[in-house]
Amino acid sequence: MSSSPGSSVASDGPYVEVRSGTPLNGRIEVPGAKNSVLKLMAASVLADGVVTIDNAPAIVDVAIMADLLRSLGLSVDVVNPGRVQITAGEASTVEPPADLVERMRASVNLLGPLLTRYGRVRLALPGGDDFGSRPIDMHVAGLEAMGARFRFDAACVEASAEHLRGADIVFDFPSVGATENIVTAAVLAHGITVLEGAAREPEVVDLCRFLVGMGAAIEGIGSARLVIDGTGGRPLGPVCHRVVPDRIQAATYIAAVAVSGGQLHMVDARAGDMEMFLRRVTEMGLKIDPVTDDGSHGLIVTSSGPIRAIDVQTLPYPGIATDYKPLVITMLAVAEGSAIVTENLYPGRFRYVDELVRLGADVRLDGHHALVRGVERLRGTSVRAHDIRAGAAMVVAGLAADGVTTISGVQHIDRGYDDLVGRLQSVGADITRYG
Ligand code: EPU
Repeated sequence: MSSSPGSSVASDGPYVEVRSGTPLNGRIEVPGAKNSVLKLMAASVLADGVVTIDNAPAIVDVAIMADLLRSLGLSVDVVNPGRVQITAGEASTVEPPADLVERMRASVNLLGPLLTRYGRVRLALPGGDDFGSRPIDMHVAGLEAMGARFRFDAACVEASAEHLRGADIVFDFPSVGATENIVTAAVLAHGITVLEGAAREPEVVDLCRFLVGMGAAIEGIGSARLVIDGTGGRPLGPVCHRVVPDRIQAATYIAAVAVSGGQLHMVDARAGDMEMFLRRVTEMGLKIDPVTDDGSHGLIVTSSGPIRAIDVQTLPYPGIATDYKPLVITMLAVAEGSAIVTENLYPGRFRYVDELVRLGADVRLDGHHALVRGVERLRGTSVRAHDIRAGAAMVVAGLAADGVTTISGVQHIDRGYDDLVGRLQSVGADITRYG
């Protein structure tokens, strides 16, 4: 670990120091999406043969999912740059170790694939970020409709079914994880599953396309009504698939320009996957120009002075994702005017607000609303990253703060961000990682 003069958090794991400085300028390659790659890796359990996943981000959660798959007896090679190769075949167990499962929420995505392929699965109740209760009742109800039986004990969920059969399932809320578990179970089930009220996030679409590449029959991809014709137990085949670019990492760099000024060319950012967010930041005063480079998509984001406050509420896709919200509140913290941000997915997802207030932000919470009154500048101090997205927001806040902002809890950022510090450094940010 390098040493940092004068820091008070050096003993608490890796940390980052940020100073506001000159406007950002240059190109940033947007990495593949965490919330897609982990699901693609979990769904590899459905295949016989080699599954190749390109554009995989270099993040800790990918390493955890690789270990989870290895624990099932699959061979996983994380090949640089950005290629994960999984040799899928018969798993040696359907009970991955609790200490791995508990490390991230995406472990729950093993439920559908293991159950449908092997007729049984036992999982510790998955962990993940600490922003309130995250039940799996919709996953359970959907799989039960397909014939699964569930047993819960204090720390585990166990499901079994000789054969899953197609079913008509209606969700009253478009849960991302439950949609993914129903789809990955239905692709090997006997008969047709119709899922109404499905989640439509770009990462769900990416998973469906990946499964179709492996030979699954799915109609209605990208809509709220998915029709899946199961193979009747026959495993899927090999595939080579490129992970969809990460709209939340892209949004992080957009927020960095919003508070620092300048212009960034974001290679591979997909405007179509973040339309509502781009509309809102345009209303805040950023200029967003979609561009095409050699056939791939990208965006140029340009600051034209201080940002304006606007009200924002989170909603399932195509609305503003809850994962953007810490970034939105951070931008609003230094905007001209006041705004109300409403959280409609995770009422408890406001923990980072205390940290922003420590930096001088004027944010008041009332239930699932935050009233943000913009101030001219934040003031650097020591803050903590409580989860992945909150951690990224602290980095952006540091870019908007006078003096030094020291962020601990960086291991959370590492779970979902592929070299956030290096990417920001490369476009001129004054940011250093220690440890
Ligand atoms: N919900 C239920 N019952 C269920 C499933 C969900 O009540 O059976 C509720 C949840 O408690 C929550 C809401 O429905 O209030 C949304 O949950 P959803 O199932 O859509 O979310 P998820 O699959 O658990 C994924 C992402 C989250 C992201 C949400 C919403 C992964 C691994 N996680 O979670 O991402 O916030 O969708 O878009 O894909 C992150 O990446 O930092 C992150 C937290």
